Amino acid sequence: MTGPILEARALSFRYPGGVRALDGLDLAFAPGSRNVVLGANGAGKSTLFMLLNGVLRPSGGQVFLNGEALDYGRAGLRKVRSKVGILFQDPDAQLVSADLREDISFGPMNLGLDVATVRRRVEKALVDTHLEDLADRPVHALSYGQKRRAGIAGLLAMEPEVLILDEPTAGLDHRAQGEFFELLDTLRADGLTVILSTHSIDLAYAWADRAFVLERGRLVASCHAHEFPEVFPTLPRFGFGLPRVIELQQALASCGLSLGDGPPPRDHAGLLRAIGDASLSWEYIEE
Ligand SMILES: Nc1ncnc2c1ncn2[C@@H]1O[C@H](COP(=O)(O)OP(=O)(O)OP(=O)(O)O)[C@@H](O)[C@H]1O
Ligand SMILES: [Mg+2]
Repeated sequence: MTGPILEARALSFRYPGGVRALDGLDLAFAPGSRNVVLGANGAGKSTLFMLLNGVLRPSGGQVFLNGEALDYGRAGLRKVRSKVGILFQDPDAQLVSADLREDISFGPMNLGLDVATVRRRVEKALVDTHLEDLADRPVHALSYGQKRRAGIAGLLAMEPEVLILDEPTAGLDHRAQGEFFELLDTLRADGLTVILSTHSIDLAYAWADRAFVLERGRLVASCHAHEFPEVFPTLPRFGFGLPRVIELQQALASCGLSLGDGPPPRDHAGLLRAIGDASLSWEYIEE
């Protein structure tokens, strides 16, 4: 069995001025897994993410990449940032150059790659994020959702092993959200590990293998998606409730309408399919 690709042990962080944002976190991310970090505003999600790729340095504890403690020297940070890409919560913190193509080139150029390789990676990232038509646009003239995608394109061009995305779907329209998850599926097929934060419990349930819940800087739950129904009601401060798909299944079950023995649906489309299949036997019961 291989160990975690990224791991935090007894991780604590205090901002200058005294705010203790994280307090003794132990968590590990398996290679190729889909992880979601949940928590109310101020719980510590963004702080955790910035510690995981060395933007911030822990006040206590350590971060490990492929079993090695992060090295905060210049060369060590270069290495970790080439392997662990982070999409910041604020899109304007991400974009640095005049036009989009130049901006996406920035990361791979800094890796010291040759011009042809940089060009190939940039064009692929533009296509993967559906931004080809905007490649020559000044980055300040992009919409919020386009800036989010532009930030992801810049990360993809680095070809990282781990992608950390801080609320990547906030502000994306319905179609862009769908395209974004298609892109994540493609990346996963390439073996990438993805860690994202979101305030949508429905999205977390539909997508993630594993969820980590933060509350005031502490880890209060770590579970597989199929454990959500047991774990989440035990978190009294956790204000999200259960995913709507689970609530609907429970409401149907309380009316005696079972969805059968298959794996429980995790999204709206899956639930509709399961209702369609099960309704045949419901009609039979009515007779
Ligand atoms: N630059 C900073 N200086 C001082 N305190 C900060 C700073 N950034 C965040 N904090 C504090 O650290 C704690 C964790 O903040 P963080 O931004 O990590 O939370 P979050 O879970 O990402 O919240 P949100 O859902 O609002 O994005 C909060 O109490 C916050 O006020
Ligand atoms: Mg945040």
